[in-house]
Amino acid sequence: MKTALLGGLEVSRIGLGTMTMAGMYTSEGALDNAESVRTIHRALDLGVTHLDTAEIYGPFLSEELVGQALKGRRDQVKIATKFGLVSHSGGGPGVVDSSAVNVKAAVEGSLKRLGTDHIDLYYQHRVDRNTPIEETAGAVAELIADGKVLHFGLSEASPATIRRAHAVQPVTALQTEYSLWTRDVEAEILPLLRELGIGFVPYSPLGHGLLTGQIRSVEDFAEDDWRKTNPRFTGENFERNLGIVDEVKAIGAEVGATPAQTALAWLLTRGDDIAPIPGTRRVSRVEENIAADGIELSRDQVDRLNSLRPAAGERHDETSMASIDL
Ligand SMILES: NC(=O)c1ccc[n+]([C@@H]2O[C@H](COP(=O)([O-])OP(=O)(O)OC[C@H]3O[C@@H](n4cnc5c(N)ncnc54)[C@H](OP(=O)(O)O)[C@@H]3O)[C@@H](O)[C@H]2O)c1
Repeated sequence: MKTALLGGLEVSRIGLGTMTMAGMYTSEGALDNAESVRTIHRALDLGVTHLDTAEIYGPFLSEELVGQALKGRRDQVKIATKFGLVSHSGGGPGVVDSSAVNVKAAVEGSLKRLGTDHIDLYYQHRVDRNTPIEETAGAVAELIADGKVLHFGLSEASPATIRRAHAVQPVTALQTEYSLWTRDVEAEILPLLRELGIGFVPYSPLGHGLLTGQIRSVEDFAEDDWRKTNPRFTGENFERNLGIVDEVKAIGAEVGATPAQTALAWLLTRGDDIAPIPGTRRVSRVEENIAADGIELSRDQVDRLNSLRPAAGERHDETSMASIDL
């Protein structure tokens, strides 16, 4: 597996997102922890050295599964996790809190669940409007000085926030949505990251599953599936977005790639400082996604993928969009 360089952190250029192992797109009852652990092991066997999780996934289950899977294999991989969406001073899960006190409480739980004495990349999950970013960056700087954290990351942060945080504690990576149908970061964010020497981790690189070509109807989603209320998966938007997938599928077929592999191979053409984290909780899918590392798209194919029309619909519903730092 080729590698990507995120700031000073080297990782496999295809990582593994472990969010769905704890639900989100699946009702709790449908989870299969044993298959999730097998999926992490398979990823490691195939050369993945970058696992992405967060304390809010579950909450806690995703970190627990990562910890379980890495017993005896901790040194093979870089662990990225996130704080700031669980308030440990009474607010609980879903409450945005990046105060220094909360960051220091959160890290102890994550270290314990992950079964490690250090987190390789520790992200603020969402910018906290009630806490100056300097306070949060300062708290992470202290964790770095203590050896509990090696690198600082931000997620869905605006250019102004990135600059302010970076001035206090150099940021290693920004994690924000980026894929064939979500290219907002290309205008301002990616040039800024390159100016500052910060790496980029695209989340939801498969468009929450739509770009895999496996989803043709939202009727199959469970009632509590997050995508049921996502604007891109509803009504006319969904029908229009299926058209994008059909084009991805046709281009990929020219090189024998599945739509998921084509979407990932395209992301890998965007730079050596970009390391996507496709999410899955199944062995067969992790194998398919990792094989994108070996897919070469021609110039003409990349040009055609670049020219695809953007997705119809906002990438999050109104409530989630309100939590994003613009
Ligand atoms: N920083 C943030 O705010 C943020 C937000 C969202 C996600 N993330 C991170 O990014 C990672 C990936 O994002 P994501 O899970 O939202 O979206 P994604 O990677 O775009 O897509 C994941 C979905 O696609 C399905 N899938 C994966 N590979 C497939 C394949 N080859 N064929 C068919 N279906 C496939 C998965 O199903 P199964 O899982 O059932 O296999 C899952 O439903 C997450 O795990 C998380 O670590 C971060």
